[in-house]
Amino acid sequence: MESMKLLITNGQAVRNAKLERCGIFCDRGKILEIGDLKGKKADKVIDASGKIILPGLIDCHVHAREPGQAHKEDFLTASQAAVAGGVTTFLAMPNTNPPILDCETLEEERNLAVKCLVNYGFYMCGADNVAEIRKAKNIAGVKIYLDITTGDMKVDDPKLLDKLFASYKRIAVHAEGSKVGESIARIKKTKNMLYLCHLSSKEEMEMMRKEKDHRIFCEVAPHHLFLTEEDEKRLGPFGRMKPSLKSKQDVEALWKGIADGTVDTICTDHAPHTIEEKKSAAPPWGVPGLQTLLPLLLDAVNRRKLSLSKVAELCCENPAKIFKIQNKGKIEEGYDADLVMVDMNLQKEVRNRDMLSKCGWTPFDRKVLKGWPVITVVGGNVVYDGAVHDNRGKEVTFG
Ligand code: NCD
Ligand code: ZN
Repeated sequence: MESMKLLITNGQAVRNAKLERCGIFCDRGKILEIGDLKGKKADKVIDASGKIILPGLIDCHVHAREPGQAHKEDFLTASQAAVAGGVTTFLAMPNTNPPILDCETLEEERNLAVKCLVNYGFYMCGADNVAEIRKAKNIAGVKIYLDITTGDMKVDDPKLLDKLFASYKRIAVHAEGSKVGESIARIKKTKNMLYLCHLSSKEEMEMMRKEKDHRIFCEVAPHHLFLTEEDEKRLGPFGRMKPSLKSKQDVEALWKGIADGTVDTICTDHAPHTIEEKKSAAPPWGVPGLQTLLPLLLDAVNRRKLSLSKVAELCCENPAKIFKIQNKGKIEEGYDADLVMVDMNLQKEVRNRDMLSKCGWTPFDRKVLKGWPVITVVGGNVVYDGAVHDNRGKEVTFG
């Protein structure tokens, strides 16, 4: 698709931890100029009066379900939910069917992702597959499961775990409770980076605060910030995920971790399952999140729980930094033209029927939120403006 010259005027951009009134000119998928761009010619001009412009969100934790589970989600539907939620890049988790354990399956996934409207990257799964990991090209990292969850990829053998933690420069783990400390101890025997997915408890947050350094990072997921175990009682299987929802005290500890810099990213763990699967006798773990992440956070900004620059730091800048994703995460000249315009005053109810994920439901159904994305730009193209428009996302480049 030909990218056009796009000019965004009269908005305020979140840049360098401040709000800056400026025009943004994009061409051939890049941000070319930022400043007072009055009189500049473009194919499309967006008047962003009263809107705030953030870098497009980068979600490091998405289960796009391909290959093999396209009845739950696929790269197209996941990306439709993404653009409606202001997410312009996501990293796809490897607990697919089959899981991404070898380069051949990784290539199959690459082919399936060409329909993705947003930019994307892939993890490889850690099992007894170190030789394949060494051969893999341009991956986000190796995901290692240390607990039972969807996909049954848990690894127990300590010797194998040592090998896996040493197998690649970026290691992401599903680790709960004491497994957090064990993972940190294990990564310290290597020079690699550790990304702890979806920390959810006070105890885990305290461990992280103690151990945090330049190569140990952690993520929290929106459902752990905005729901508690009380909601699980109300939601039943639709409030069931790994790690499970926790107490109010745990939720407060996560917010404290955000405030004091212990938390590095907020990513969705978008894990769609069908309504039928969720209503079955053995409901699978996981909830969708791509479309509701930013509205939940903007609503929290309106309630003074965090600042807009903190949202940009945790959802844009840090993901790009941690995973060394080139040219993304900031509104800067030369960076990719991935942007989201938000209306901080727009109040709207989250509705199952508005969800674009194939699963068609959300644990936040009927929640009224103030602050919504209204226009999403991917690679210089307007891909969401209330309706979704076609686009070809690109595979990101990892450093
Ligand atoms: C995820 C899934 O469904 O793939 N489920 C979940 O409850 N979070 C797997 C995971 O990330 O643990
Ligand atoms: Zn997980």
